[in-house]
Amino acid sequence: TIGPAPVSTPAGAPLHRPRRLRRTPHLRRLTAETQVHASNLIQPLFLREGLTAPREIPSMPGVFQHTRDTLRKAAVEAVSAGVGGVMLFGIPQEKDERGSGAVDPDGILQVALRDVAAEVGDATVVIGDINLDEYTTHGHTGVLGPDGDVDNDASVELYGQAAVVQAEAGAHIVAPSGMMDGQVAHIRAALDAAGHQNVAILGYSAKYASHFYGPFRDAVESSLQGNRRTYQQNPGNIRESLREVALDMAEGADMVMVKPALAYLDIVRLIADHVDVPVSAYQVSGEYSMIEAAAARGWLERDGSIVESLTSIHRAGASQIITYWATEFAPRLG
Ligand code: PBG
Repeated sequence: TIGPAPVSTPAGAPLHRPRRLRRTPHLRRLTAETQVHASNLIQPLFLREGLTAPREIPSMPGVFQHTRDTLRKAAVEAVSAGVGGVMLFGIPQEKDERGSGAVDPDGILQVALRDVAAEVGDATVVIGDINLDEYTTHGHTGVLGPDGDVDNDASVELYGQAAVVQAEAGAHIVAPSGMMDGQVAHIRAALDAAGHQNVAILGYSAKYASHFYGPFRDAVESSLQGNRRTYQQNPGNIRESLREVALDMAEGADMVMVKPALAYLDIVRLIADHVDVPVSAYQVSGEYSMIEAAAARGWLERDGSIVESLTSIHRAGASQIITYWATEFAPRLG
């Protein structure tokens, strides 16, 4: 619907004055349609095996690879700031062809989950990312078949094992991000068979093959050469997201995600209008770095730009936002 047609008073002045409701901060607050809250935000955190001091990620100023000690502190800080959850990623010291660290009960992400669950597990939601890409020498999200492409069915087998070790380490939610067909069904079955019926699945359902993941690949020291276009979605597609989301829901996803966020807000809106589960959006590394880089040059007003981007993602229909600014901005979002 559009607003009232222009109507004038007999004297020729506007009869309708939308500016009346924008006049004071209190009027604007009272009439706000969208307000992001701290509880909507999820903070991603990185644990790097073998570090003795936290290491700042060069392409993501302000974001760190943590040691076990600083990871626990960062988790406590996130929870004190009021964030809704933390999403953990592990960066192993050793990689191999099959990404074995992802399914090892003592793999680095499982260590992170156990530490964080012990520290703040009763006070927040702990989420584990299920993928092999941080652990493979070739950097792909699964194991490679003879043709050099990712072998779908062999990879989902490993995702199932990864889900179980993550659940055992204390994850409340597991989030498969590999874009393999049937991954949610396989993970649900593996979790249930191991007695983890109560661990939820957040599907990275509509995940695009995006250039905006660039800085994340620095963050996790990715070995990837090439791209992920045989498994992540074509940025020009819309209906494909409806299909991916419908499949994930049929397979048992408790929540679905659209990723990246800002360049895909039409997809967030579409999915939010179509599903009856919570819709999350991932404000990815490149979205973070763009604003930080422009702000560092004085080209953008940093804090206002960040709040505006979070508000826009929320307005588009995301109930949860995964964002590297979660801890910093949670306190001021209330
Ligand atoms: C896969 C994964 C990626 C991101 C989250 N999980 C990278 C990829 O698919 O290439 C991207 C997150 C970001 O860019 O912030 N483990």
